[in-house]
Amino acid sequence: MGNITFTMIKPEAVAAGKSGAILKRIEEGGFRIVAMKKILLSEEKAGKFYEVHKERPFYNELVEYMSGGPIIAAILEKENAVTDFRTLIGSTNPKEAEKGTIRKEFATSLAMNAIHGSDSDENAQIEADFHFSNQERF
Ligand code: RTP
Ligand code: MG
Repeated sequence: MGNITFTMIKPEAVAAGKSGAILKRIEEGGFRIVAMKKILLSEEKAGKFYEVHKERPFYNELVEYMSGGPIIAAILEKENAVTDFRTLIGSTNPKEAEKGTIRKEFATSLAMNAIHGSDSDENAQIEADFHFSNQERF
């Protein structure tokens, strides 16, 4: 099992001033912040990031949403980071998210679900490299 995952606090959560509370939950969950920045994704970058969903009906909406306001991107470190972080954030649909999860507490809807977490060790590496150089990691 790998020890890093990649996350983004999504635009509506950043805009609503929830970043601090979400980062607190992440650190209290035992994750160490290796790299972090606030950025506005271009439509092109958001589209590339979610390219796996290109054929899905919600793809255009997703790209528009993720490029519609600044996000906070971060690399997080912990043993079993990918699996443990998916547990901490909860199900994609906040209505199905377990009690105590970040999405249960902070998500607005299925589309606007407050936070991203990598779904595999391989994708964690790809996504971390997509956003951060080695000089930005500590
Ligand atoms: P993420 O990649 O953002 O961590 O979310 P996830 O793995 O839990 O879910 P995924 O299937 O990868 O979907 C990516 C994001 O697309 C939006 N979505 N909208 N309107 C819809 O039916 C719909 N379904 C998914 C969500 O923002 C979801 O997190
Ligand atoms: Mg996903």
